[in-house]
Amino acid sequence: MLMKLAAGHIAPLTGLEEAEVLKLLETPPQPELGDAAFPCFVLAKSLKKAPAAIAVEIAEGLKAAGLDAVAAGPYVNIHFNREKLSSELLEMLGHPSFGKLQIGKGMRVVIDMSSPNIAKPFGIGHLRSTVIGAALYRLYNEAGYTPVRVNHLGDWGTQFGKQIAAYKRWGNDEALQAEPIRTSLELYVRFHDEAENDPTLETEAREWFRRLEQGDEEAKRLWAFFVEVSMKEFDRMYERLHVQFDHTLGESFYNDKMGAVVEELRTKGLLEESDGALVVRLEEEDMPPCLIIKKDGTTIYPTRDLATAVYRHDVMQADKLLYVVGGEQKLHFKQVFAVLSRMGHEWSADCEHIPFGLMRFEGRKMSTRRGKVVFLQEVLDEAVARALQIIEEKNPNLDNAQDVAEAVGVGAIVFGDLRNNRLNDVDFSLENAVSFEGETGPYVQYTYARINSVLGKAKDAIKGMDDGNTNRLKDAESNDGVSHGTNVGDASWALLKLLTDYPEYLEKAIQRNEPSVIAKYVIDVAQAFNRFYHAERIADAPAEERPFRVTLTERTAERIKHSLYLLGVQAPERM
Ligand code: ARG
Repeated sequence: MLMKLAAGHIAPLTGLEEAEVLKLLETPPQPELGDAAFPCFVLAKSLKKAPAAIAVEIAEGLKAAGLDAVAAGPYVNIHFNREKLSSELLEMLGHPSFGKLQIGKGMRVVIDMSSPNIAKPFGIGHLRSTVIGAALYRLYNEAGYTPVRVNHLGDWGTQFGKQIAAYKRWGNDEALQAEPIRTSLELYVRFHDEAENDPTLETEAREWFRRLEQGDEEAKRLWAFFVEVSMKEFDRMYERLHVQFDHTLGESFYNDKMGAVVEELRTKGLLEESDGALVVRLEEEDMPPCLIIKKDGTTIYPTRDLATAVYRHDVMQADKLLYVVGGEQKLHFKQVFAVLSRMGHEWSADCEHIPFGLMRFEGRKMSTRRGKVVFLQEVLDEAVARALQIIEEKNPNLDNAQDVAEAVGVGAIVFGDLRNNRLNDVDFSLENAVSFEGETGPYVQYTYARINSVLGKAKDAIKGMDDGNTNRLKDAESNDGVSHGTNVGDASWALLKLLTDYPEYLEKAIQRNEPSVIAKYVIDVAQAFNRFYHAERIADAPAEERPFRVTLTERTAERIKHSLYLLGVQAPERM
């Protein structure tokens, strides 16, 4: 916020655009040097002067405009008037419209997220898609877009033929009802083990899927059973993660919508035969052909995604289509978008794959085939158990320790995921993620709880004060009573500046589809608060300083709580 203010003053003195100046502005390494430093090197050529001489001129210009600026070699250092600005800035932070952007203007963004495969464990990749997608939903919402969350369940395809074939041979309803995913996984693993020596299994599986696509009653009944029991288990997970969807429309939903797409491809002359299968060649795009209909006449993943995209554009009226799916599906989406473009759909340019890196838990990877799987539920349970242990040590008198542990443990996993740049591979360590120190979710949550306790003390202090002072504090709480004489320390000033920068971080997070921008921001805010908390007294500050510091603390609490909310992390009031 203040950088923008500085840029606004400097730009007219340089002939540069405000945005260029903003990019050039630096934060001085020490607070004594000022709030912003403008390096003059870039102007030397156009102005045919030495940078130091330019710095002197700019500093003069800024002083004439009433700013405190000094030339320091080739830099212009600007000091903002803390005492004058702080009440204005605090007031701005307290305004309900603060931090709401209007960059989306009612644009409908369909976010494909989570999208696990039925009858398989909820993989870590799906966890990432779920939490990144849920965060993007809230970020877009905050910026004036109309985001729509769609869970594109993997509930169709050859694997269901396998599932049915295996169930027919070895299935057990009771086990499936009790532990659907584990039992399905066992069937799946057994299928692959036995299929190595028994090729009839694969034939049976293909036959079952063909029957399913053609609407065979028994196939449909078995399939619906798998979907139902799996969904129950997924829903439990979504509940723990506090994730909702606007639509759950699995791949099966497009079964009766693929015919039209295939027909369109045919009439547009895009379908070609290849080894008995039908494909769209993408040589011009430098990609392998996109498979549309397999040799046995069944459809495949890309076919369903084509029908899905058309539906999202035509029926859901999406202006923008985001796919939060692991980086390993990059080629798939490039192919699908290229085929859409070949079909003449100009809106294929509005489709975007939002990939993310691989995540391992304590070095363990997901491998469904071999049955070596990290179950999300177990990971969450372990995180919660660790959180409970720490909470019991830190605060043995907390009454709702179990609920807090759930919020902290689950939050640690979500935050531990989201704080990484989306594209990075992550080796997730539970111990680090659940730690109350370092750049973790629990650290931020703990800071939030600390703030609440400080605010509680401040309220008690107000109660104990005489009326005159009480009124002064009330004024401060309504944000306009912070007196201009308030002495603003380095730590509170740094915190205040960071809080006013929030809209810029929000915008950056959306532009990059990168929730980690907000995760890192909220860590910075928590750290800045803790520095302030250690450097300056708050609840027991001298009466002239107290209103400012208490209000600053309140604004910090709101910002932390809201940032955690954007990330899908709970903020317990006490820990
Ligand atoms: N179910 C798929 C998988 O687990 C992910 C689906 C992603 N979304 C999509 N529209 N293809 O690999």
